[in-house]
Amino acid sequence: MISINQLSKQDINTIIGNAMEIKTTKKFPNLNRNGVKIIGLMFLEPSTRTMHSFESAIHRSNGRVIKYETEKSSEKKGESLYDTVKTMSKYVDLFIVRHPLLSYEKPLMFSEKYTEGKPVINAGNSIYEHPTQALLDIFTIFQNVEPNNANPIKIGMVGDLKHSRTIHSLIYLITKLKIKVQYFFICNKLLELDDNDLEFINKNNLPHSTHDNLEEVISELDILYMTRTQTEKHCKECNISAPPIILNKEKLNNAKESLVILHPLPRNEELCEDVDDDPRAKYFEQVENGIYIRAALMDFILNPENMD
Ligand code: NCD
Repeated sequence: MISINQLSKQDINTIIGNAMEIKTTKKFPNLNRNGVKIIGLMFLEPSTRTMHSFESAIHRSNGRVIKYETEKSSEKKGESLYDTVKTMSKYVDLFIVRHPLLSYEKPLMFSEKYTEGKPVINAGNSIYEHPTQALLDIFTIFQNVEPNNANPIKIGMVGDLKHSRTIHSLIYLITKLKIKVQYFFICNKLLELDDNDLEFINKNNLPHSTHDNLEEVISELDILYMTRTQTEKHCKECNISAPPIILNKEKLNNAKESLVILHPLPRNEELCEDVDDDPRAKYFEQVENGIYIRAALMDFILNPENMD
């Protein structure tokens, strides 16, 4: 699964339903019920939550992990990615990959041809997509907000919308599930969604407006999704120096009691720590939900017939 768009609505509902059950019962699936499963983690970009929540979910679900470490690998002896993936595919049953060049159109060396049919889960590729984050985001939204057809859920997306892969996948996922929403894109002009995403939004007639000020709209919002400025992903020539839009305790005075504050983390200065004690802050709940969603997703992929 490179893009969230590769999952059907029914697949998504199954995965979320199973994650819900894992969370409630604290009973994780047994990934080995149709034979021992070994999962290869290949993170070629930095990660804390995504990598370790996969690891944690694998351990809790009796799976085994092989962690590919660039620094200790034969890449240092000049081995190509092609040879590395061909080799790893002999050892693992599923790849979890974070690679800046991975894409749906060109899956690089991670197409089934090179992985010998072993499935691949995209754990975040450059500025494009982060499907497992979108799944845990929507799971957290469903745990806190009841979607209904009468009123749209008003979602404020704040920060670096252009370069935040979590935002892109979440918009695709919400659209696929046909959840009635209204978007408030709150960002500096230079960090607005790019043309491809705006085209997607217009093509799907998704109600939206753009703002450069959070105070102006915070009282309307049901969900506030914060993101950090993705400085490391900005091209050198773009020279973007946009001050972050900041959420602090004081700004929350005007927000709804039922507001749900989300952030994929890591945070920088855009999300002040004085918000953490507010009952509306759900970003550490998101962190926890990552384990349930990823366990449910791996089980869905590795044991499709549910032969328990
Ligand atoms: C995000 C990511 O890596 O895309 N974090 C995450 O996976 N939990 C967001 C970020 O890097 O800012």
